[in-house]
Amino acid sequence: MSRTILRGRVFTFVDEPQGIDDTASYRYLEDGAVTIEAGKVVAVGTYSPAEAAGCEVIDHRPNLILPGFIDLHLHYVQMQVIGSYAPALLDWLHTYTFVEEQKFGRQGHAEVIAASFFDELIRNGTTTAAAYCSVHPQSVDAFFSEAARRNMLMIGGKVMMDRNAPEALLDTAQSGYDDTRALIARWHGKGRAHYAISPRFAITSTPAQLEASRALVAEHPECYVQTHLSENDAEIAYSMELYPDSKDYLGIYEDYGLLGRKTLLGHSIHLNHREAQCMAETGSVAVFCPTSNLFLGSGLFDYQRLHKTGVRIGIATDIGGGTSTSMLRTLDEAFKVVQLRKQQLSPLNSFYLATLGNARALGLEDRIGSIAPGRDADLVVLDSKAIAHMALRMQTISGVAEELFLLQTMGDDRSVREVYVAGEALKSKLN
Ligand code: GUN
Ligand code: ZN
Repeated sequence: MSRTILRGRVFTFVDEPQGIDDTASYRYLEDGAVTIEAGKVVAVGTYSPAEAAGCEVIDHRPNLILPGFIDLHLHYVQMQVIGSYAPALLDWLHTYTFVEEQKFGRQGHAEVIAASFFDELIRNGTTTAAAYCSVHPQSVDAFFSEAARRNMLMIGGKVMMDRNAPEALLDTAQSGYDDTRALIARWHGKGRAHYAISPRFAITSTPAQLEASRALVAEHPECYVQTHLSENDAEIAYSMELYPDSKDYLGIYEDYGLLGRKTLLGHSIHLNHREAQCMAETGSVAVFCPTSNLFLGSGLFDYQRLHKTGVRIGIATDIGGGTSTSMLRTLDEAFKVVQLRKQQLSPLNSFYLATLGNARALGLEDRIGSIAPGRDADLVVLDSKAIAHMALRMQTISGVAEELFLLQTMGDDRSVREVYVAGEALKSKLN
């Protein structure tokens, strides 16, 4: 089996940084070599010509080689919703999003959007994402088929929604259950595909549908669960009207047995003390979606409080409420949200979230999110001088943490030179 060596400045986390000075949390090799064989990393170390003998060497110097980015929450079916003008979440959903998602009932539409979606992820260095598909099962087929074509590790699921949306977007408690079961059988564990049971949120699911979701989770503990939580004041108030017997918003999902270490709760902004405690106790993941939360005026994620409470935290673009597919742009906005809260999020902590942190949130840290022997070879090559103004600023930068901060502050898809998925270079092959 042939081996390939990627030569460059290799950067990977080994643990969560305790702050900007925590050099023990990462490994940084100035002249590093990542050896890849059969889609996996087999060795990482300082480049040695003797060890490189007989291998193909791809020289990425002076660029950085990092683990591919992971996006913990987005809607691939909202690629054409980005930048839709609305005052807040519920208007945005009804005026644009539910209209757009209906198009996925048309023959061929999902395939076209899925192809563009994966191109965009690769262009931005994202190698894994947890995605909502539309209510239509064929949108899930298109999603996983396209991911398989590129051999990408992807998480996805059909949204279940049986009320408070246009008729054409509704399933029923029974059909949502049946379709989800069939999709899990068709996709979960096939290649690199993971299924996420996806009741959209409390507003669009009847108690019967959440009951069906409970059954799905009990029958398929190997699958993820993804839904939305506490994004917007009007959403919270309406959810509590619809589920008056639950203690609070999180309590709705708790009452239907939907919490746990495989549960990804998008937004999780306005949580009370009990909710934060309950999330920590159940190991449920709060997914921070900064560009979306700012764009829709939803609120400021309380990073420090949730972190101190022991809540597992991930980070995501939330396309199309979110305004960029780039995790670099997302980290930039995350920093600003945390600044507005008068809290700290160091560049080390930001890049940790987008790589090893999100991998840990998925429980997939033995496969993705870091560069080490045995991991899947999902990597991104970052050029901190790709943009003229960044090149100028790089002249005054010292140290890799400062460089990462510049990348998140000014970088975008232009900073992404190459992307490897299971050892294959994909970005350079895009049209
Ligand atoms: N809550 C329920 N559905 C959605 C969605 O599609 N986007 C966002 N941002 N919030 C939601
Ligand atoms: Zn969402």
